[in-house]
Amino acid sequence: MKNIVIFASGSGSNAENIIERLKDKVNFTLILSNKRDAYVLQRAEKLKIPTVVFDRKNFYESDDVLKILIDLQTDFVVLAGFLWLVPNNILRAFPNKIINIHPALLPKYGGKGMYGERVHKAVVENCETESGITIHLVNEKYDEGQVLFQAKCPVFPTDSPDDVAHKVHELEYKYFPEVIEKLILT
Ligand code: GAR
Repeated sequence: MKNIVIFASGSGSNAENIIERLKDKVNFTLILSNKRDAYVLQRAEKLKIPTVVFDRKNFYESDDVLKILIDLQTDFVVLAGFLWLVPNNILRAFPNKIINIHPALLPKYGGKGMYGERVHKAVVENCETESGITIHLVNEKYDEGQVLFQAKCPVFPTDSPDDVAHKVHELEYKYFPEVIEKLILT
């Protein structure tokens, strides 16, 4: 079985969904988070997946996180609600093996500072008629790696950012595990 490590900074609903859907086909070795109080860490405990919390120094000024990934014989890295740029040492060690999900139709509503709720608020403020998800490979720039998959949902004039978030989450839960499975098992 392939070894997957998940990075997450927030609630972790995608991380939990991916693990529940793929746990019989993939070995989830670790959840890494840069936030000590992230709810994803409680989900990990429930799912019996080990966790490590790291800081900027571990990530950007040392090989600490890279060493953890190598020691675990990691095949793929999944970013599920992780907001920091991945440093070059990790990108070089895992070329085309790091996957991210973004809650909009990139290249729209991407880039630094565009994440989670902020994306859905901007979509509503700009009166977009559709939004969706983008699953892409990660490179050295925010939200600019090769797109693997996109799915759309309609946005109605009466929708609030929460309504859009709900529709986008539904797409994420349906497609993120499918795309990961296809990428790593083919
Ligand atoms: C997800 O909607 C994901 O697309 C988004 O954060 C949310 C995490 O939710 N990611 C980004 O905005 C990355 N730029 P979760 O913690 O409940 O899975």
